[in-house]
Amino acid sequence: MIDAINIFVFSSLIMAIHALSAPKHAYYGNILASTAVIIAVFFYLKNIPCIYLPAVVISVLLGSFAGIITARKINMPNLPQIIALFNGFGGLASGLIGLSEILISEHTSFLLICLAGFGFITLGGSVAAFIKLSGFHFSLPANILKLANSALFLISVALGTFIAITPSTVILSGYVILICLWGFLFTTRIGGADMPIIISLLNALSGWCGVLAGFNGQNNLLIITGSLIGASGLILTYLMTISMNRHLKQIIFSTPPDTHHKTSATEKHVNRGTPKDAAFLMENAAKIIIIPGYGMAVSGAQYELASLAKLLQNKYHATVKFAIHPVAGRMPGHMNVLLAEADIPPENIVEMKNINPEFQTADIAYIIGANDITNPLAKTATDSPIYQMPILEAEQARHILFVKRSLAPGYANLDNPLFYNPKTIMLFGDAKEVTRQIITDLE
Ligand code: TAP
Repeated sequence: MIDAINIFVFSSLIMAIHALSAPKHAYYGNILASTAVIIAVFFYLKNIPCIYLPAVVISVLLGSFAGIITARKINMPNLPQIIALFNGFGGLASGLIGLSEILISEHTSFLLICLAGFGFITLGGSVAAFIKLSGFHFSLPANILKLANSALFLISVALGTFIAITPSTVILSGYVILICLWGFLFTTRIGGADMPIIISLLNALSGWCGVLAGFNGQNNLLIITGSLIGASGLILTYLMTISMNRHLKQIIFSTPPDTHHKTSATEKHVNRGTPKDAAFLMENAAKIIIIPGYGMAVSGAQYELASLAKLLQNKYHATVKFAIHPVAGRMPGHMNVLLAEADIPPENIVEMKNINPEFQTADIAYIIGANDITNPLAKTATDSPIYQMPILEAEQARHILFVKRSLAPGYANLDNPLFYNPKTIMLFGDAKEVTRQIITDLE
């Protein structure tokens, strides 16, 4: 019976992942995955000894309640940091299983030490990711950080080895605290374009923690689901490193540059424009490429963008395409999800490598709430944290319309030479408001 349940849950999860790959079926994928997990939890509960059952059921109910409330209350712009936090809870759960097994059974094994270690690394790293994604930028001088990281890592490995030989509660506590701190500091030093790669690596790590917990508890289902998360996280990490021109080794072991090309806007000339100017240019344009970024998500301007695209296509017979950078926004697929929510046809949404050659023939690049993903410094500034990151080639369009509230930098904290390009018109304001005004003028 239990094998049949395992096979059912496993195949449902695989079908759910397949369904989640396209917005059209994503909803059903979600329902299928949730149902499979509920069935798995139910059958797992049946095997638990009666004396533990009340505590387990209460924990499951409390956790589910907290999850439902958070998912209902959270607004779209804050979704990436909540996902990072949920990922951290996965690590915490695995870490606690490892820790409690060592404490209860008073014996240690390599597997339990790894389980506790990886779980708490995932927790520390995910908390750092949560803080960074929430917009709090904090950093220690690179040299101090490098020294602290190396010291914490070596001490944690030494403590882990010690526990394997002589179990001790005090040393075990020191081990999990230091390794958690190492995960936190390690993620803190990752900057600019590398953060998305580390987030998907942490996601993979939380899956592999589940696999270790499954081996420990001889729970096939946990092994299967953990390896699904771990493998898909690793594949995503690999794909991201390729699309961002990076090597994982380089991200993990190199010291990120301290140098920031900060804004010195007072010395440079900026062309300011109004929505009326933008409407005038759009009226006369045959091809417009829209580049959405994090600010579009914050402002929730996807519905206005959908209306603008429709208006330009139907009334002005323009070709309108949406250009998607792999790390636009704050989570993988962030822009795709929002544009799909506004019913923008998938054929008008084009990935970076396919849209880049088209900028040469575009009359307008409409950059809305994006910044780093268009920053030409990625090609030239060897000391910048986004060096060698591929960008959307907006500067090749005939006109550049740049919508943002100020000349403030984006996530990588870099000035953007595109603001001062003579072809650029800056439209200062909220993404949704500016787009609405352009629509009114066009109408
Ligand atoms: P950013 O470079 O962060 O730029 C977003 C811009 O939006 C800001 O410069 C901001 O300028 C503007 N903005 C904010 N609120 C706005 C509003 N209401 N209306 C109009 N503009 C608004 O975003 P991006 O170009 O999408 O690049 C993504 C960055 O995030 C990359 O550096 C990437 O590495 C990093 N990152 C990505 C991920 C994933 S997985 N996608 C995860 C972690 C980090 P103002 O304040 O002047 O308005």
